[in-house]
Order: sequence, then C-alpha cells, then structure tokens
Amino acid sequence: MTESAGRDGAPVRLQKVLAQAGVASRRASEEMIARGRVEVDGERVRKMGVKVDPATAVIRVDGTRIVLDDTLVYLALNKPRGVHTTMSDDLGRPCVGDLLAGRVDAGQRLFHVGRLDADTEGLLLVTNDGELAHRLMHPSYEVSKTYMATVVGVVSKGLGRQLRAGVELEDGPATVDHFSVLDIHDGRSLVKVVLHEGRKHIVRRLLAEVGHPVEGLVRTRFGGVALGDQRAGSFRKLNRQEVSDLYGAVGL
Ligand code: URA
Repeated sequence: MTESAGRDGAPVRLQKVLAQAGVASRRASEEMIARGRVEVDGERVRKMGVKVDPATAVIRVDGTRIVLDDTLVYLALNKPRGVHTTMSDDLGRPCVGDLLAGRVDAGQRLFHVGRLDADTEGLLLVTNDGELAHRLMHPSYEVSKTYMATVVGVVSKGLGRQLRAGVELEDGPATVDHFSVLDIHDGRSLVKVVLHEGRKHIVRRLLAEVGHPVEGLVRTRFGGVALGDQRAGSFRKLNRQEVSDLYGAVGL
C-alpha cells in the first residue's frame, strides 16, 4: 500500500482500482474489502479509504492476482501444423505472426512464450508481458506442459517407468513427470506426456530415443491453461484465473 502516484499522478482508491480492473462494481468491491477478501502487497486490507499505486501494487482477490495494467494482453493460440513459431518469417513461410496480424497491425508488441516445432500443433501462449513470458520460459520455474503424441510402435508396459526415471539424451538426461498410453491402433500408440522442461524438440527426441519416433504432436496444456476445443489457427484471451495461475506458477 502506498500513497505514491497512480498513472494519472494520484494514488487511487482500492475499490476504484478493483472496479476499473473489472472485478466488480465499486459497491461490491467495497464489500469484498470489508469481508477481508482483498490483499495488497501481501497484506489483507479491511478498512475503507486505502489508496494504491496501480502501476506497482500487487492486488489479490480471494488469492487470485488481479492484472491492473489494461495494456497487457494474454492469449492462447492453437498453432496449426506447418505454421512456424515466429512473429514474421523472412522466407515468407506461414507463421504465428500471420494469425495475429490484426493485433500486430494495431500496434501490439506481442511475443510467443517459447516455441513449438513447425510440425507440432497446439497451445502457444502469446503476450506482451515481458516479465511473465521470461519467467515462463525459464527452466527454474518448472512450469509443466502436456503433450499428446502419436508414435510409431506399440509401447511396452514399462516405458512410463523408464521415462520417469530419466533417459540420456545428447545434451543431458531428460525425465517426464507423467506418461500414459491413451490408445493403441494399427501399430501406433497415442500417448500423453507431461514434462516441465523446454529444450528444443524435447518430446520428439525423448520418444525417438526409447524407440518410438513421433508422427504427430499436439500441446494440450501449459501450466494452468488448457487448449480445450479451440479451433486450429484461432486465439482467445486468457481469463482472469488462467492469468493468475500463470503468475502464481512463476512467483509473480
Ligand atoms: N517437444 C517437441 O519435440 N516439439 C515441440 O514442439 C515441443 C516439445
């Protein structure tokens, strides 16, 4: 809590900040404060009249972090197969930037959180929140990602144990947090892999190393954000809970 200046040069009443962030009406926000549901910079606030600096305050309602900066954008994109994970491509190949052209043209400086191979489909987070993106890509925060892979061959019963124990790759060992077989059909297996690292081609290399080259790969989850049934090539805004979960996952 602070008496320092907000964006327009004045500290702003907490209930007004909550209302402007779309949490609830001013009246309902006052009630939330009175009920002890609101924290500012780690301290529960119950009294009225507290003013905050929206540019720096960390505000939580029921533990969920509220994003106060309305210029920040958080999107979930379903990257189609064949689309490159770049915002523009010198060779003119289809890229993620094409799918976001409307927003890029409108001046938003968006970037993708990590990469998917051109041949991989699925969930790619896109944001202009540099600090969050940086942390989500950093291995030390260990944000988990879920993939569905169609692999060549019928996977053996012991494969999950082997992958969880760790497999030696050319750039060091890799482990998975979870492995399960969803289907076996026509000499191919559909498997689910959850891991928290982001080395290049990690899922393809890992599965090839244990004798099951990947034919198709889809990322279905990144931390608390699920792809769901979003159409390939489309994007949607993350909801408040999803953004808050991402912040929480990287200690923001
Ligand atoms: N692992 C891969 O092999 N490829 C991806 O695109 C993502 C994870």
